[in-house]
Amino acid sequence: MTTLEITNLHKEFVDAYTGETVVAIGDVSFSIEQGEFISVLGPSGCGKTTVLNIVAGFDTQTSGSVMVGGKAVDGPSPERGVVFQSFALFPWKTVLGNVTFGLRMRGVARQDREPIAQRYLELVGLEGFERKFPHELSGGMQQRLGVARVLANEPEVMLMDEPFASVDAQTRRKLQEDLTGIFETKRPTVFFVTHDVDEAVFLADRVVVLSTRPSQVSEIVTVPLERPRNWRSTLDNPDFRRTVTYLTDLLAGELDGAVGTETPAGAVGES
Ligand SMILES: Nc1ncnc2c1ncn2[C@@H]1O[C@H](COP(=O)(O)OP(=O)(O)OP(=O)(O)O)[C@@H](O)[C@H]1O
Ligand SMILES: [Mg+2]
Repeated sequence: MTTLEITNLHKEFVDAYTGETVVAIGDVSFSIEQGEFISVLGPSGCGKTTVLNIVAGFDTQTSGSVMVGGKAVDGPSPERGVVFQSFALFPWKTVLGNVTFGLRMRGVARQDREPIAQRYLELVGLEGFERKFPHELSGGMQQRLGVARVLANEPEVMLMDEPFASVDAQTRRKLQEDLTGIFETKRPTVFFVTHDVDEAVFLADRVVVLSTRPSQVSEIVTVPLERPRNWRSTLDNPDFRRTVTYLTDLLAGELDGAVGTETPAGAVGES
């Protein structure tokens, strides 16, 4: 069953000062099946975040359609939970309070909120930290709290825009494994934006590659890896290496194509 369907999505921004039109998304179409993990890769500025914002309901398209669960997106909803790069936690609420807040907003009965929140905190390895405040957690733990908070709302689609970009390499590997474990347990539908080819392949069932602006889907690559996955057995896996090399070459080609075209000076391809 298709959960998310993006059809001929096109987005233009008009510069408030110059009146100039910027095409942020050219013509993008792809869909995500229920319980599928999709990574979206593409050169900087090709419109990945803009697509995600439109799916989240934070922004609207110029033309084309976005359907989630058969309904056109019209504004933000807990059905499309967003894990922000900057965590966006409530600093004045405890770890537990950060998770129960969304449940309250969704109208979950008071006596059910804590047990549900507790379950998701365990899932992300934060049991024992319920009464702490976000500033008492490490960056990686805050990110996992962000994931727990979104998962607790049992969203139809989980939207993640480079959520691990600001953590160190080791924590990042750990978070990727945690996310894979959570995905394999709960099977949410995930739309994951990243610049990191290894990360995209390790996590996803399929990788959607966007071209430079005006962006289109240049290719959709199926990841030939079994689940459950972990880094230890994945790194040397020839199928993993081959897929990473293929995507890296594909992206390099896209970047070459951008040189001397409409890409802003200094953005890419200076070599
Ligand atoms: N609010 C806005 N107003 C005007 N232009 C915008 C706005 N948001 C994005 N853009 C432009 O739209 C294009 C796509 O931006 P977007 O942030 O979606 O790219 P991205 O693929 O997420 O890039 P990155 O990989 O660097 O995060 C860029 O050229 C950007 O300058
Ligand atoms: Mg972005």
